[in-house]
Amino acid sequence: MTSNQSILDRRAKAIPRGIATASPLAVARAENGEIWDVEGRRFVDFASGIAVTNTGHRHPKVMAAAQAQAEKFGHVAFQVMAYEPYVELAERLNALAPIADAKSIFFTTGAEATENAVKIARAHTGRPGVITFTGAFHGRTQLTLAMTGKAASYRTKGAPPSIGVFHVPFPIPHHGVTEEDSLRALAHVFKADVTPQEVAAIVIEPVQGEGGFYQVPTNFMRKLREICDTYGICLVTDEVQSGFARTGRMFATEHYDIEPDLMPIAKALGGGFPISGVIGKAEIMDAADPGGLGGTYGGNPISCAAALAVLDVIEEEGLCRRADEVGAKMLSRLHDFRRSNTLRPIGDVRGLGAMVAFELVKERGGHEPDPDATKAVTSAALDAGLILLSCGYYANTIRLLAPLTIDMGHLDEGLDMLEDALTQTS
Ligand SMILES: Cc1ncc(COP(=O)(O)O)c(C=O)c1O
Repeated sequence: MTSNQSILDRRAKAIPRGIATASPLAVARAENGEIWDVEGRRFVDFASGIAVTNTGHRHPKVMAAAQAQAEKFGHVAFQVMAYEPYVELAERLNALAPIADAKSIFFTTGAEATENAVKIARAHTGRPGVITFTGAFHGRTQLTLAMTGKAASYRTKGAPPSIGVFHVPFPIPHHGVTEEDSLRALAHVFKADVTPQEVAAIVIEPVQGEGGFYQVPTNFMRKLREICDTYGICLVTDEVQSGFARTGRMFATEHYDIEPDLMPIAKALGGGFPISGVIGKAEIMDAADPGGLGGTYGGNPISCAAALAVLDVIEEEGLCRRADEVGAKMLSRLHDFRRSNTLRPIGDVRGLGAMVAFELVKERGGHEPDPDATKAVTSAALDAGLILLSCGYYANTIRLLAPLTIDMGHLDEGLDMLEDALTQTS
């Protein structure tokens, strides 16, 4: 039998260490909320391939749609010939997005989506500046690296300085940054670094993903909308991680009752097949000249077909409602864990729909981050059979990203394993 170790040994020789793998495992197969490694061990999946399999691994409808498309044609390039699945996907998303008159374009990765949103905003405004937030994660290409609001280990070893990109502290009151502090910092950026008339876009994740699942406060988002309206800046809500029913709405932006100018999307859209995109106000989306946008693989037909099936599944299986149910169950257990005196100390517990996270702290009742405990808990959870991901500006957050279709018994089982891990590491 192939062992995990034999694959990891080959990986170490063949693949650079720059792509880190969170677990010492190699996957053999996966089904909805479960994964089996090459040694036949089963795991409950609370990672969903980093927020991709909201509809579960290998959802039968998504697989059937991809297979049916593969029987017709695979790649032709949308830039060579148009095809209906791309057009239909754009039509469906334009109708779903919280934007009155929308157009959509497709790419492959989340970084491409955020990068193109900025490109479109720059073409529309004719301005260079971009404002993002501390703790933000927008990707690993050179521009999106600059936009990402955490230097280590993303922006090290020769990454260029963030020319034209300015970071504002993201409001997290229990870590000492209030909404007022953030707005004051933004005013300072406008004074000291770049005038608002030179800013093309303010880019913000409605709920930070890699940054730690911190939600943008309602008033703060509305204030950003006002500021963008005042100065003609595009408000870009990065929905790459928070989109597609994860937060209990199709898009997390819908929690705010604002209309964004542009929304990068990716991850869960394809249900495991690579596709990303930008949805935006039609007049802004049309700013780039023909030929200025695109990419050979953008909007791959098999991925478009899978994405159309994902949208059907979200609707037919009521996954927005299910996200709230899954999230409520997670939050209730996490609050119990926090109250317990026998488990590892937990600080803030938070969640919007099924985008749920908690912080590990040095002392019960405090907020001082404990990154070592965070590593210990994810590792103990893996030993128990649960795949978990950490994240966070302070590296002390564990995020629970179960598929929204997870069997409720498997959800309980995963939460029991988490409790065991918190007990063992206390
Ligand atoms: C909010 C957000 N934007 C952009 C990205 C980049 O996506 P990708 O890794 O597909 O390039 C991510 C990835 O985690 C993300 O969470």
